[in-house]
Amino acid sequence: VGKVDDEVDPATSRRAVVVGGGTMGAGIAQVLLGAGAEVVLVEASPEAAATARDRVVGAVQRAAASGRPNAPLVEILHRFTAQGDFSFDGPVDLVIEAVPEHIPLKKDVLVRAVAACPGALLATNTSSLSIDKLAGELVDPSILIGLHFFNPVPASSLIEIVIGARTGPETIVRAREWTRRMDKESIEVRDSPGFATSRLGLALGLEAIRMLESGVASASDIDRGMLLGYKHPVGPLELTDRVGLDVRLAIAQHLESELGPRFSPPRLLADLVAAGHIGRKSGRGFFEWDDEGRRCG
Ligand SMILES: NC(=O)c1ccc[n+]([C@@H]2O[C@H](COP(=O)([O-])OP(=O)(O)OC[C@H]3O[C@@H](n4cnc5c(N)ncnc54)[C@H](O)[C@@H]3O)[C@@H](O)[C@H]2O)c1
Repeated sequence: VGKVDDEVDPATSRRAVVVGGGTMGAGIAQVLLGAGAEVVLVEASPEAAATARDRVVGAVQRAAASGRPNAPLVEILHRFTAQGDFSFDGPVDLVIEAVPEHIPLKKDVLVRAVAACPGALLATNTSSLSIDKLAGELVDPSILIGLHFFNPVPASSLIEIVIGARTGPETIVRAREWTRRMDKESIEVRDSPGFATSRLGLALGLEAIRMLESGVASASDIDRGMLLGYKHPVGPLELTDRVGLDVRLAIAQHLESELGPRFSPPRLLADLVAAGHIGRKSGRGFFEWDDEGRRCG
């Protein structure tokens, strides 16, 4: 990925639009508010906007109670609105879409965002879809870039910047600048299946499942090996439980079709999904989980 001189226009507007206020969009809105931006959250309807607004306000209040960020709550919330349509007064500098992982939906949202926010940097939080494909309907595909956040967004320090074949140099510079404003670290990755993080994380997860399948060690000992030996914060099997075995199976199938049989899902993974044991959300995966989402076995 080519490097570009980082020049930032100091007059750049700090107005950001987040489309989709679910798990990721709400977290992104919270982080943008913490970075001093004026944030407009766009949801599918006024009712969904009200729900998303409560989610963000609750998270901002909890964070403020523990001193993060160090700004008066009333000032932060003054910069935040949530609405059910794409109507804005004044310029917008950044649009991040965080709607569900569905190509036609994302394409539609991106086209509408460009029409409503001329001149804005356009970013997608997709975790697996091709940036080049998502740019397919845009008149100017150079303005689209991937900003892949991690869950939970406020607690994670990484943004994976995904650069499409037609992403422009100015877009990359603006994406880096917004990453810095949000106080995140970034890695830059060329648009490719699974980007860097999903691809490598999945490779480790699938190998751990194959090892369990062939009786190399118990699930607990495989994970403890990575925790204690490699200082991973969470083991590959517990992480698979947390993400959802169904989600990881779908990503493995996608990467197998794009990158070949090394991503072929292990039999054990497919069997557990077929049996409904899809991890934390079902109470059982490689480990047992209680109703509050805590590991209990
Ligand atoms: N959940 C994760 O751990 C995670 C991590 C990284 C990236 N992602 C990616 O982030 C994106 C969102 O995932 P999520 O987990 O936040 O999903 P989610 O289902 O929690 O939230 C999606 C939100 O989008 C809203 N929405 C749907 N259609 C809309 C429309 N037309 N206009 C405006 N809003 C609309 C929904 O009402 C919902 O609130 C996906 O692309 C996903 O792959 C998710």
